[in-house]
Amino acid sequence: MNAERQLAALLEAAGPGVAAGLARMEARLEEIAAGDGEALAAHARRMVAAGGKRLRPLLVLLAAGPDDPPTAAVAAAVAVELLHTATLVHDDVLDRAPLRRGRPTVFATAGPHAATATGDLLFARAFAELAGTGSAGAVEALSAASTALARGELLQRADAWDAEVAVDRYVERCGLKTGSLFAAAARLGALLGDGGGDPDGLAAFGDHVGVAFQILDDVLDVSGPVERTGKHRGTDLLDGTVTLPLILARARDPALAALDLRAEVRDAAAAEAVCDRIAATGALDAARAAALERVAAAKALLPAATGGDWQLGVLDAVADSVVARYS
Ligand code: IPE
Ligand code: IPE
Ligand code: MG
Ligand code: MG
Repeated sequence: MNAERQLAALLEAAGPGVAAGLARMEARLEEIAAGDGEALAAHARRMVAAGGKRLRPLLVLLAAGPDDPPTAAVAAAVAVELLHTATLVHDDVLDRAPLRRGRPTVFATAGPHAATATGDLLFARAFAELAGTGSAGAVEALSAASTALARGELLQRADAWDAEVAVDRYVERCGLKTGSLFAAAARLGALLGDGGGDPDGLAAFGDHVGVAFQILDDVLDVSGPVERTGKHRGTDLLDGTVTLPLILARARDPALAALDLRAEVRDAAAAEAVCDRIAATGALDAARAAALERVAAAKALLPAATGGDWQLGVLDAVADSVVARYS
């Protein structure tokens, strides 16, 4: 089953409470994005309206339980998606990325200054929304994720162009960049909803799923295609980001091991050629297997972490949907 169909089936199985929560989340997102008038808000609004899979707010709502969620849980879902969007806008500045969600990035259309300010606005909106819940623990959880994300982006810049980066360091980067926000999403749902799950256990589940998601995103950066990802193939190579597919492929292909990314991969055609070469080594399957291990580790936590059978079933399906995105 492809990822869209799998997510649709998951929503159906999750029931009307979660669907209602998602609809309230979308309405509030729209309201917030429209709220700032002027040039900045136009960029923020376009990014929010461009869609996205809404995987992180879904995780908040599933952790919050099967019923129509409390207002605070919806606010957390909104805050998580706003924070995610903020990090994407900034990430596209750092990665100098042309395309996001199938559209030109804020960076590409308005330049680094406007994109930086747009991201800042979205960060501020995210925390304001969550502060409205009155839960210091919730704000702390999102702040921890936001801090980890910033550390992850800095680690990625520090390691840029270094093809010898170790697998452990790469996985640490994935945890900081992506695992942290998935973990916070699950924790916030547990804290502010009525799902009955254990916040720490669900956060650990989210972390594993997030790392798997990032590994598979890095595989998709090599395998594309743009119609499926909304981003160009080889973007990571072009900005010097060394990911698991390249790390594993270098061990299998001496020509890739000898490749100087900065000097030899300077345009989209060169990047695509290296993508093909990475794929030819079988490294994509090996990377995918590493992601599947994380998904299995995530699922193994569910019996102890969840508040009941409904939650166990839907979160198990979320973990599977992450893998389906690849196939
Ligand atoms: C993109 O996340 C950033 C990564 C962590 C790889 P998503 O793939 O969830 O982005 P959207 O929200 O669906 O656009
Ligand atoms: C994830 O890293 C970005 C964030 C967590 C902010 P990537 O750089 O791989 O994300 P994409 O590929 O640009 O979506
Ligand atoms: Mg990027
Ligand atoms: Mg990527």
